[in-house]
Amino acid sequence: MAMTADGKIATANRAVHSFGSARDLEHLYELRATADAVMCGARTVEISQSILGTGGEKFRKLRLKGGLAEYNLRVIVSGSGSIDPSAEIFKKRFSPIIVLTTERASAKKLKLLRELADEVKNCGEKEINFRAALIWLRAKWNVNRLLCEGGGELNDALFRAGLVDDIHLTICPKIFGGRTAPTISEGIGFSKLTDAEDFQIQSIRRFRGELFTVLSRPK
Ligand SMILES: NC(=O)c1ccc[n+]([C@@H]2O[C@H](COP(=O)([O-])OP(=O)(O)OC[C@H]3O[C@@H](n4cnc5c(N)ncnc54)[C@H](OP(=O)(O)O)[C@@H]3O)[C@@H](O)[C@H]2O)c1
Repeated sequence: MAMTADGKIATANRAVHSFGSARDLEHLYELRATADAVMCGARTVEISQSILGTGGEKFRKLRLKGGLAEYNLRVIVSGSGSIDPSAEIFKKRFSPIIVLTTERASAKKLKLLRELADEVKNCGEKEINFRAALIWLRAKWNVNRLLCEGGGELNDALFRAGLVDDIHLTICPKIFGGRTAPTISEGIGFSKLTDAEDFQIQSIRRFRGELFTVLSRPK
């Protein structure tokens, strides 16, 4: 995640959602090159128009060198099946697309999504059971390492489920402000300090004007 100095990942009107440097983008592709699958929430996929690709031949070679498939699997989370069928990601067929959804998705939406994605998986009645979803992804699609690229709502669900091992956070020296501008973890959150997810700082690297940090769950 790229975050401003005031903790935002986009502006309040969502018009600005990409603000890291070229180095930060390269870092994102490097991270994708370590993961079997890349996962995003429906709004992020729509707003960024990302196809969740590898980033090019250089990164595909890195993947192969690291013993991974040439292309990462792509996972979209859309509990009500509201993901826009005309999103860019569905137009590029280089690797399988999996949609994780719930019983809240209507039959009509499911039918459409099944035409667009390689698999649409019902992962719960109202809420996605992410622990079960990850176990299924490992068993069915051989996903041992998964990179979640947000947004804030999806991140929150993973934090609350205790499923985040490492956070790669790029701090960009900008201020967006705005009460409704999203942060790296939105949604429901924790209400008690004792429930909060704890992480330890693994590394901090400064490159030009940005701080590249890695926070890890204590072993
Ligand atoms: N700076 C960065 O690094 C960065 C990275 C990523 C995103 N962003 C920005 O963050 C903003 C989007 O964040 P966001 O929090 O609004 O959206 P999001 O998490 O990308 O997507 C929210 C949608 O995803 C589905 N979803 C997420 N969590 C779910 C869960 N636990 N169970 C079921 N469905 C779930 C739901 O789809 P349904 O409505 O279909 O149920 C929900 O409406 C955008 O502005 C984006 O550009 C910034």
